[in-house]
Amino acid sequence: MTRSDTKSRAVARPLPLNQILAGDCIDVMNALPENSVDLIFADPPYNLQLKGELHRPDNSRVDAVDDHWDQFSGFAAYDQFTRAWMAAARRILKPDGAIWVIGSYHNIFRVGAELQNQGFWILNDVVWRKANPMPNFRGKRLTNAHETMIWASKSEGAKYTFNYEALKSLNEGVQMRSDWVLPICTGGERLKDAAGAKAHPTQKPEALLHRVIVGSTNPGDVVLDPFFGTGTTGAVAKMLGRDFIGIEREEAYRAVAEKRISRIRKFDAEAIATTKAKRAEPRVPFGQVIERGMLRPGEELYSMNNRHKAKVRADGSLIGNDVKGSIHQVGAALEGAPSCNGWTYWHFRREGRMVPIDILRQQIRAEMEADEGRPN
Ligand SMILES: C[S@@+](CC[C@H](N)C(=O)[O-])C[C@H]1O[C@@H](n2cnc3c(N)ncnc32)[C@H](O)[C@@H]1O
Repeated sequence: MTRSDTKSRAVARPLPLNQILAGDCIDVMNALPENSVDLIFADPPYNLQLKGELHRPDNSRVDAVDDHWDQFSGFAAYDQFTRAWMAAARRILKPDGAIWVIGSYHNIFRVGAELQNQGFWILNDVVWRKANPMPNFRGKRLTNAHETMIWASKSEGAKYTFNYEALKSLNEGVQMRSDWVLPICTGGERLKDAAGAKAHPTQKPEALLHRVIVGSTNPGDVVLDPFFGTGTTGAVAKMLGRDFIGIEREEAYRAVAEKRISRIRKFDAEAIATTKAKRAEPRVPFGQVIERGMLRPGEELYSMNNRHKAKVRADGSLIGNDVKGSIHQVGAALEGAPSCNGWTYWHFRREGRMVPIDILRQQIRAEMEADEGRPN
């Protein structure tokens, strides 16, 4: 059997879309096809290393992250775990895919270094400033009021997705910055267990995922979260018309996430369409109009108010009333104006009518577009 036979007979494994997969994320990711997902959002254990219980001044116990899934024997064990899950994530990420990892000062520097060690290319670090952080009860350090998210492409130069216009639009027309002020998850959004306690200690706010998913994916993309918890990533992905794959080791969290996501309704296609940048129109120098014979050297152009005229020269410049220069410069000089759009200012005569030279530019652009669509 030749190599190409083997290749053509290989059956592509289907992705388990919109499912929550049970198990260790490293094993589960290793069983998924390589280069298959568009975005990974990872909220790994923080390795908080809490020593004993934490109490408020009134002696009530703080519900801190002391869960078994956050326990590691030390930095070496945490680093080994980070290396393993990140390598598994990297394998399944498409070449033009990207990863977001969220963490606190306890782990984010170790995670960031490993991203670079593995060849990811950091695009931004986003500071999620918590509008309502937990105070520092002992008064021994600053209030820990933010978490950091690192956004990285799979490699330097990869064509990652960035919906610049969509994020700008989300920010009322102002460029989105790398500091996001959003509240932590409270109130109705915070999922509770049967006893009314928090269903998960580190449930992330949907607003955070909304920005991540709108900004770095398109409808129909596949978003994978290897540390799914209560399924915030899946819930927001579903709303926004993206497919998700969740991986979670704890059965109780999977159950909470299943129930949560089953209640989510996808927004309609028009509502989730991403604002794209207007495609810049190709620049056409006035000289091209002459080169193509659309206007001849020596031909006269007239200002739109018919008060001025200038002669076309073979090099694409104009001369009128002893002023030489581009269509814009000569128009501005004759009008005594600081600037002038020569394309709309100058007209040529055809069959007794004044026609703006911009018509000729549009004709060239239309030809360029038609050429783009033609096979070489
Ligand atoms: C920081 S929490 C994620 C919370 C989630 N972003 C949310 O909004 O609910 C990390 C989660 O990863 C899970 N986890 C930890 N290690 C894991 C592993 N090796 N494989 C799969 N899940 C794991 C934990 O059970 C925990 O639910």
